[in-house]
Amino acid sequence: MKLTLSLIKADIGAVGGHVRPSEALLKCVKEFVANEGSELLIDHYIGFCGDDIHILMTHEEGTNDKKIHGLAWEAFKTGTEVAKSQGLYGAGQDLLKDSFSGNVKGLGPGVAEMEFEERPNESFLMFAADKTEPGAFNLPLYFAFADPVYCPGLLLSPSLSEGFTFSIMDVNYTKGDRIVKLSAPKDLYDIAALLRDNHRYVVESIHNTKTGEQAVVCSTSRLHNIAGKYVGKDDPAMLARAQQAFPATGEIVAPFEIGHFVGGLCRGSHNAPLMPVKKNSQVAYFDGPPLVQALAFSVKNGKLTEPADIFDHPYWDWVRDKISAKTVEMRRQGFSGPAMLGFEELEYGGITERLERLDTKFTVKKER
Ligand code: 13P
Ligand code: 13P
Ligand code: MG
Ligand code: MG
Repeated sequence: MKLTLSLIKADIGAVGGHVRPSEALLKCVKEFVANEGSELLIDHYIGFCGDDIHILMTHEEGTNDKKIHGLAWEAFKTGTEVAKSQGLYGAGQDLLKDSFSGNVKGLGPGVAEMEFEERPNESFLMFAADKTEPGAFNLPLYFAFADPVYCPGLLLSPSLSEGFTFSIMDVNYTKGDRIVKLSAPKDLYDIAALLRDNHRYVVESIHNTKTGEQAVVCSTSRLHNIAGKYVGKDDPAMLARAQQAFPATGEIVAPFEIGHFVGGLCRGSHNAPLMPVKKNSQVAYFDGPPLVQALAFSVKNGKLTEPADIFDHPYWDWVRDKISAKTVEMRRQGFSGPAMLGFEELEYGGITERLERLDTKFTVKKER
C-alpha cells in the first residue's frame, strides 16, 4: 500500500517557562486527534520533546493534505485554549497566523511528511528536537548517509552502493523553497560546503540514488521568516526510514554520539552540544540543553507498533555525561566569542537596539 507518514509539531505552551507541555494540554491534543481523526487516520502517536508536541499520523491521503493538516491545526488550536486556561507560558507560541487555508506550512508548526510504498517490514525513526534549529540534523545526516566511517553499509551493502542524494534548502530565502540536489559521493565536498552552515543550509530530504526511494524528510521552517521577529526556536523534527535500501537504524543514530555544537539553548542564542535524550524529556539546564529524541517504529498496513526508545540505554547515559561536561565547558565562557551566536543569528532583538544606541556614543580619536 502507499502509506503517508505525517509528523506535525508545535509549541503551544509549556509549564513554568519553556519546559514541557502540561498533562492537561497533552490529554486535550491526544483526545482531539483520537476523536476527530478516527475516520481519516489509520494510526497516530503523540509525544513531546521539551515544550514541543509532536503528532505522528499514518494515512493514505498523501503529503500536504488539507484534511490531515487541518486536523493537526485544529488540535493545536484547541490545545492552545487549555494552555491559556492553565496560564502556560507561550500559549499558542507557534501558531503564528490566525486562519488555516489548507496547509500548516508557513503558519508556524513544523512539518515532516513522506509518502512511500510500505515495505513488508517497514522500519522508520521519528526524531524530535527542542531548543535548537533544523540545521542541527545536518552533520548527523551527512555522517549517516555519506560517510562509510559511520555508515559501513555504503561499503558493505550493494543496495547502498550508489549512495544518497541530498536535497538541501536555503532557509534564508523567503520567496519560496530554494533547493539544490547533490549526490554523495560525487558531490561530497559541495554537500559539506553547504551543510557546514547550519543556520542557512538545511537538509530537506534524502533519497537513495539508485532506487530513488525517499529515506529522510526534515522540517525546515524558520519561524522568524514567518513572524518577522523572534518567537521561539524552529525546534526541528525528522522522519528517517531504516534498513535495506537505507542505512541501518544503528548507522542513522550513531552520529548523535558526537554531541556536536548547535545553535539554541537559552533564548535561542547560544551554541551548545546536542544531547540525545529519552522520549518525552523536558528541558533541564539553562533552558536546554538542546535535546533530541529518536523513536523507532515498525508499521504494517499503516498500523504502528509501540515506539522503541533508542536513547533510553546505558550507552546513551555515558554519552549524556560526556555531553554535560562539554556543555559546562562552553557555558563557563558566558557571552564570549563562540559561546553566543553571531549577531545575525541572535534571536532576541534587544541586542540590536543596544548596539545601535552604543554606536551613536562612539567617537573617533583625533590624531595629535
Ligand atoms: P520572555 O522575554 O518572554 O521572558 O522570554 C524569555 C525566554 O523565555 C527565554 O528563555
Ligand atoms: P522554545 O523555542 O523551545 O519555545 O524556547 C524559547 C527560548 O528562548 C528558551 O530560552
Ligand atoms: Mg516555548
Ligand atoms: Mg521548543
